[in-house]
Amino acid sequence: MAKDFSTMENSNGSSNPSIHEISSPSRRTLLQGGLGAAVSQLLAPIAGASALAGCASLGGGPLLGFKSVPVSTADTITVPEGYVAQVIAPWGDPVGLSGENHAYREDASNSAAQQETQLGMHHDGIHYFAQNGSTSGLLVMNHEYTDEGLLFADGMKTWTPEKVRKAQAAHGVSVIEVENKAGQWALVTPSPWARRITANTPMNVGGPAAGHALMQTAADPTGRRVLGTINNCGSGITPWGTYLTCEENFINYFSGGDTLTPHEARWGLKKGGAGGYRWHEHDARFDAVKNPNEPNRFGWVVEIDPMNPSSTPVKRTALGRAAHEGATVAVTKDGRAVVYMGEDARFEYIYKFVSRDRIQPGGARANAELLDYGTLYVAKFNADGTGQWLPLTHGQGPLTAANGFADPGEVLIKSRQASDLLGATKMDRPEWIDVDKDGWVYCTLTNNSRRGADKQPGVDATNPRANNSMGHIIRWKEDGDFHATTLQWNHFVLAGDPANTRAEARGNIKGDMFACPDGLWTDARGVLWIQTDMSTSAMGKGDLARLGNNMMLAADPATGEIRRFLTGPRGCEITGATATPDGRTMFINIQHPGESPSERSDPAEPGKLSNWPSGKPGARPRSATVVIRKRDGGVIGT
Ligand code: FEO
Ligand code: CA
Ligand code: CA
Repeated sequence: MAKDFSTMENSNGSSNPSIHEISSPSRRTLLQGGLGAAVSQLLAPIAGASALAGCASLGGGPLLGFKSVPVSTADTITVPEGYVAQVIAPWGDPVGLSGENHAYREDASNSAAQQETQLGMHHDGIHYFAQNGSTSGLLVMNHEYTDEGLLFADGMKTWTPEKVRKAQAAHGVSVIEVENKAGQWALVTPSPWARRITANTPMNVGGPAAGHALMQTAADPTGRRVLGTINNCGSGITPWGTYLTCEENFINYFSGGDTLTPHEARWGLKKGGAGGYRWHEHDARFDAVKNPNEPNRFGWVVEIDPMNPSSTPVKRTALGRAAHEGATVAVTKDGRAVVYMGEDARFEYIYKFVSRDRIQPGGARANAELLDYGTLYVAKFNADGTGQWLPLTHGQGPLTAANGFADPGEVLIKSRQASDLLGATKMDRPEWIDVDKDGWVYCTLTNNSRRGADKQPGVDATNPRANNSMGHIIRWKEDGDFHATTLQWNHFVLAGDPANTRAEARGNIKGDMFACPDGLWTDARGVLWIQTDMSTSAMGKGDLARLGNNMMLAADPATGEIRRFLTGPRGCEITGATATPDGRTMFINIQHPGESPSERSDPAEPGKLSNWPSGKPGARPRSATVVIRKRDGGVIGT
C-alpha cells in the first residue's frame, strides 16, 4: 500500500531496548538443503515446487540475461527488449461467476451487487495455481484497498449504505481461471473455480484465539465466525496447495472513541477512523465504540483453498495478529511448515511461526489444522550480526497474567504488546519476505522517515539510516534449519540514488537505482525480483526526484547485482509476482495507477494522472494484472 509518509502508522511507543551500533558490513516454498524425496511429494500440489525441482530445465546462461530499462515517468509499462507485456483482469471485469456477467461500466455506475461479481480494486499479492501445467490454471489475488474517487461517479460527496457495500465488495480476494491460447492469456468465463471473497464473506477462526472473549461480539458470541477480510496486502502459498492472504492496515477501517484503551492505542485505532473509509457511518461493525472487539477479529493471516470453491476461509490466529504484509512458507528438513511474516508499520516487527506437526500428504484436507498448532516467534537482531527468535509463548518470561496476558489467545491477539515486552527489534516497515535457493531469507524494509527523528528510535545495526527514505533489504540464514531460534544476518542492499546530495539516501546498489522495496519473490531459477512502492505523496520529488515511476528489478543473490526489468505507469505501485511452472509466463500486479498524493482521486477528473491501461483520455485508471512473456517464448529473466 502506498501510504503518505506523514500518516503511516507509528504506534509503537514501547521502551523495549534497541541496539545503537552501526552494523558490520557485511521461493516461497523452500527447503533447507534441497528437496528430499519425501518432502518433495508433499510439495506436489504447488506449481512452484515442481518448477524448483526441475529448475535445471529452465535454461542455462547468466542468471540475469536481459538489458535493463531506464527510469520512466511515462504512463505505460516498459519491459526490456525482446519482452512483451499484456494486461488482463482489470478492476471491474467479471471474474466469471456462472450467470453473473456484469460488464465494467466506465462511469463507475456498477452497483454493489455487481461489484461482488467483478474483480476488486487495487490488486496486490498473487499466485498462479497450475491446473494444466503452464497452459491454464487459477490466479488468486488480493485487492488491498479502494480509491472512492474512482469507485464512485461522485466520489464520497454522498455516502450511503450501498456505497459502503460496494467498497466492501471491492476488497478481499479474487479467484479467476486463466488460460494461454497461442501466447495470449485470457480469463475463462464462466468458470466453476471463479470466486469473490469480500469484506462480508463468512470466515472461520482457527487456532488459540478462536472463541476467545476478546474475539466475541454481539453478532458473533462464539468468537469463531467473522465476516470478511480487509486490506489484503501480501500473500503466500502453502505446500498443501492453499493461498494465504494477509490483513495489513485493517485498523484504518475502524472508528474509535474519544478515549482509547492502551490496547486500542497500541494498535493505532483513532477517533473517527484515521483512514477515512467511513464504513462505520453505515455499518456499525466498524464502529469500535459500539463493537470494541471487532478490530481484534482482523490483522490475521487467512487461509483459502482455491481448489475448493465452496470452502470457508480460515483466519489462522496461531500465526499472530499484526498489520501483516505477507506470509511466506518454508519447510524444515523434517517436514514442518515455517511461516515468515513482516508487519508493515513503522517500528514494528518480523515474525515466524513454526508448526508443531509435520505436513501430511493429501493436500489441503489433510493439513486443515496444520497452521493452528505451533510456536510464534519475533525477531531480535543483534549488532554483531547474530539474532534470536523470541517465542511468544504464554507463561514464559514476561508473557504472564500479571502483565496482561491471561492465556495463549491473548498473547496472539496482543502480539505487538508481547513483542514489546520481549524486546524485539523495531524495524523500518517490514514488507515481503522470501527465501532463496541457498536458504537465505530476505525481507524488504520499505522506508521509515521517522527513524532517528525527535523522540523516535534512533538508528540501529539492522536499520542503520536516519530518515530512511529509501529503504533496504536485510537477509538472514537460520543456524541450522528453518525452525532454529538463532540466526546470522546482514544487509543485502541499502537502496538509494548514488547522486543524491544526502549521504544517507545514496545507498550501495550494485546496478540500477531504486527506492522503497516492497514486493519480493524468488523465481525457480533463483532470481530475486524486487518491486517498489515509492508513495505517491513522495514520488518524483525530494530524495526520490530522479527515480520516476515505481518499478520491478531483478537481483542475483550470489553477486548482489540488481537490474531494472520493468517500469510501471504513473502513480502506481508494482506488487505481487508469480509464474507458470515453465518460467515462461510471469504475472505481476499494477496497483493504484494514477493515484494522487492524497490517495483519493477527484471524481470530476478521474483520469487526471493516468489513463492506464486503456490509454483513453479521461478514462479511469484501473489496477490490473500484467502478463510478461518473451517474444521468443523463452524463460523470463534470461
Ligand atoms: Fe500494503 Fe505494506 O504494503
Ligand atoms: Ca506491499
Ligand atoms: Ca508498501
